[in-house]
Amino acid sequence: MRAMFSKILMATHNRGKATELKNLLEELPIRILTLEDYPDKPIVEEKGTSFLENALQKAKEAVEFSGLISLADDSGLEVDALGGQPGVYSARFAGEPCDYQKNNLKLLRFLQGIPLPQRTARFVSVIALITPEGQVYTAEGRCEGVILEELRGTGGFGYDPLFYLPSWGKTMAELTLEEKNMVSHRCKALRKIAPLLQRIGKRRDGSSAGRL
Ligand code: IMP
Repeated sequence: MRAMFSKILMATHNRGKATELKNLLEELPIRILTLEDYPDKPIVEEKGTSFLENALQKAKEAVEFSGLISLADDSGLEVDALGGQPGVYSARFAGEPCDYQKNNLKLLRFLQGIPLPQRTARFVSVIALITPEGQVYTAEGRCEGVILEELRGTGGFGYDPLFYLPSWGKTMAELTLEEKNMVSHRCKALRKIAPLLQRIGKRRDGSSAGRL
């Protein structure tokens, strides 16, 4: 008999994020759809002033058009020497459309002359999960690091080549996907809602009816 998997829609256009989240959830018997399965339903780019607001908005939109349990991450980089910038504007720090190379170069420019000990920063991820019945769950994860003076590594995406993890002696872009998924802000947020995802995975009929 063919196994029935519960379905979740991951509300992101960002391939880097989708790859990480799929890798994190691959142990669970959950079929993960992405926005590529809904080509005519683009998620409106976030306009909120906090990661939480943006994650909720994206998950809400996704659940409305899909009728599926939907999960969205909103994340970004907070640099202490820049008063928390780029924060919710991380994707479009150097303007639109999102260009990782330009964002990284702008960050290096803004931090020029600031010594390493003062280049502390963190990635923050807020994940929102909303069911078709309107139950809302959120979780936050953080990952602390330092912004280097030059790019290192080719893995990951976004600010990864500049984000140095002292305990690993490597930038995020020098980690494998599995290593990044052991330490990242997104994995920490996701781990907090893992029990919910386990329960979703156990629902062989794919429904989310009743409380999770
Ligand atoms: P969002 O899609 O609006 O949440 O934008 C997230 C932005 O934050 C991305 O475009 C990246 O610039 C940055 N970002 C978030 N998570 C990561 C990460 O794990 N590595 C590198 N950059 C990240």
